[in-house]
Amino acid sequence: MIGDPVKNQYEAYPYPPRNPADEARRLVTGSPSHLDELNHCVFGGRRDFSKPFRALVAGGGTGDAAIMLAQQLMDRGAPAEIVYVDTSDAAKAIAEARAQVRGLNNIRFVGASLLELPALGFEPFDYIDCCGVLHHLPEPAAGMEALTAVLATGGGMGLMLYGELGRTGVYPFQGMMAMLATAETAGARLEWARRLVAQLPETNWLRRNPFVKDHLSQGDSGFYDLLLHERDRAFWVPEIAALTAAAGLRITAFIEPAFYDPASYLKDPRLIARVSRLSWLERCAFAELLAGNMRKHVFYVVAADNPVAPPSPEDKAAIPILRDLDPAELASGMSPGTVMSATVDGITIRRPLPPLSAAILNRIDGRLSLNEIHEHLRQTNAGLGWSAFSKQFTALYDALHGLGKLYLAFR
Ligand SMILES: C[S@@+](CC[C@H](N)C(=O)[O-])C[C@H]1O[C@@H](n2cnc3c(N)ncnc32)[C@H](O)[C@@H]1O
Repeated sequence: MIGDPVKNQYEAYPYPPRNPADEARRLVTGSPSHLDELNHCVFGGRRDFSKPFRALVAGGGTGDAAIMLAQQLMDRGAPAEIVYVDTSDAAKAIAEARAQVRGLNNIRFVGASLLELPALGFEPFDYIDCCGVLHHLPEPAAGMEALTAVLATGGGMGLMLYGELGRTGVYPFQGMMAMLATAETAGARLEWARRLVAQLPETNWLRRNPFVKDHLSQGDSGFYDLLLHERDRAFWVPEIAALTAAAGLRITAFIEPAFYDPASYLKDPRLIARVSRLSWLERCAFAELLAGNMRKHVFYVVAADNPVAPPSPEDKAAIPILRDLDPAELASGMSPGTVMSATVDGITIRRPLPPLSAAILNRIDGRLSLNEIHEHLRQTNAGLGWSAFSKQFTALYDALHGLGKLYLAFR
């Protein structure tokens, strides 16, 4: 292959595979960069989307984040511009076609390397998405620096980097392919790799890791991206902390928060108390070692000197917003003692919900503040004071926010 092997790979196998015609029937949403999630994690829930908003999607691929952001901002009537940047013309063409099917005119598509961004003369960006890209650069730190250079004061980023432990089995396989077939065409490498996958002994770590399966479900591009990547590496939580700190940034959240809390996996109260003495970042690192299954780290960062704090569930003015859940439907299935659970890559995390959950959920409409919800509930629960209500809402928030289902924002 001539030129940059990573560019060549994504010209031949744009990733993830997407058919623009599917835009007519569904919107792909995810993390990072869901608008309510990024407002919570980057702006403390206080971003005013009636003001101009500039977002960059760096290494936008076939368009998932750019399309989601553009659609969510358009639905809100937000005066926004999203700049999409990618080195792959093939990926860009798919992303453009998706935008066209949706009639989105708030995305500007640019074919360039994110490393060139500081020289491209863009106005600074309020928000930057960079999902699954920096770990493909020769120097991820140079990529982080380039992104930081175009970040507006008070802005932030949502990123995804591969997790080392959860990808157990991937790198030995890539190592074998490097020994077996490097100078071949991409098609020939795919064929050799498929032969090898079919012959793995039962002790092989790829075979023993059932949660690594993109090569089984996403066609040639999924197979190539996982097992034949021209350049990829993975990160541990402390390495992510070091990478962001070196660029003058700090991490505000790992997604989903409950999975980065060691207490989610432990029952022994003495162990939980002991682990709770660690700093937040140490607890996140501990959770990665404990769970052992994190294939990706999705996280948000802001400038190290940006004092923004996550919205507090005890703030009367905070407006709760549910994600991908119908509050009435959720409330109708609840009885006292209901437990909320989420399963990711083989592990289920359970959070008990407080007794008033159904009543509170029935009032969450993305517009009412906690104060207003409390006022409504008082009409049917005589004597329900703010502090009793707030205690129950905080328990509900801990459960649902921890599992990525509830965010807070302000008017
Ligand atoms: C694994 S895909 C992820 C795509 C997208 N961010 C997503 O999450 O769906 C990686 C993308 O990064 C792009 N890429 C790799 N190096 C790049 C660079 N230096 N500048 C811009 N894009 C790059 C590739 O072309 C590819 O489309």
